[in-house]
Amino acid sequence: MSEGHTKSSDNGKQGERRVQEQALVDERGDADQPRTSTYRYKPKSVDTIVIRNFSFEFPPDTDPLWIPNQRVRSHFFNGVSLTMPYLEPFLVKTEREAANYIDSQELQADIRGFCGQEAQHYKCHQRLNAVLRENGYSEFAELEERMARSWQRLLRRDLETRLAYAAGFESMTNGFTRWMIKKRLQLFRGADPHITSFWLTHMVEETEHKTVALDVYMAYSGRFLPRFLGVLHGSFHVIGWGVIGMVAALRKDGVLTQPRTLVELLREAVSLVYEVGPFMLRALLPGHDPRREQDPQWMRDWIEGYAKLPEGQKIPLVDTQHPAMPVPYQ
Ligand SMILES: [Fe+2]
Ligand SMILES: [Fe+2]
Repeated sequence: MSEGHTKSSDNGKQGERRVQEQALVDERGDADQPRTSTYRYKPKSVDTIVIRNFSFEFPPDTDPLWIPNQRVRSHFFNGVSLTMPYLEPFLVKTEREAANYIDSQELQADIRGFCGQEAQHYKCHQRLNAVLRENGYSEFAELEERMARSWQRLLRRDLETRLAYAAGFESMTNGFTRWMIKKRLQLFRGADPHITSFWLTHMVEETEHKTVALDVYMAYSGRFLPRFLGVLHGSFHVIGWGVIGMVAALRKDGVLTQPRTLVELLREAVSLVYEVGPFMLRALLPGHDPRREQDPQWMRDWIEGYAKLPEGQKIPLVDTQHPAMPVPYQ
């Protein structure tokens, strides 16, 4: 066989291999490459996403039943709190990875703000969860190991799927924010001021960065079907684990099947579906944009109040005994 023939045969094989590789890339949707060049950054309702020091502390004698006479509600929020040190680092890693594909400088700044805020949140949830474990619920440790494995598995999915999950979860969170802030009196009147203030402040910041995850998804991919599935995946995965945490705590209390618990469970489930469901449904629609969800006045007042706080001062606590539970900046 001549040298010339060997070379041309090698070139032919290489060409063939390239075609096969390209076919493989096309088939799997090339997870590493952004698909859209049509994304344009749109202004949002807050100018800057402020990274605040979540200095909340939870006294060693904090009662895990932190909402008076509301065992199910206390444990539901405790269950959701358990997920945060696994969910929020996952969101940070995913958005940081996507930043490599983003051209918009405004969106790059938003991603930095988003990641900074989520990092503050999960560190604070870790402190709260440690107190919950120490004060009667040591079995949360085993549950948290399972949660850690679940989000590790999710990290192995392709970037588009992870971004869709993040965008979906964050869209649904807008419903949680509105519910928790607007109904704060019905939900948290007389409750532990440390945990209540932490949750409400967390929700203020969720609203502040509500556009980021969806913007990143639209800049990276923009495809409708993965985003649609991401709303369901992100919402039900997190709420599902939260409910598993709640059930574990109710079982530990020995009250899981008591009639009073079942009535409370039904009431909380109805109010969750009623308050958060419409946000999830709107997030499923084509053209969804969280910019159209109006921010609660309490949240805007909170941000204004915080901006006037002297530098280095801790975030003040909400007075949960006050008949209006105003922003803590009077
Ligand atoms: Fe968060
Ligand atoms: Fe968030």
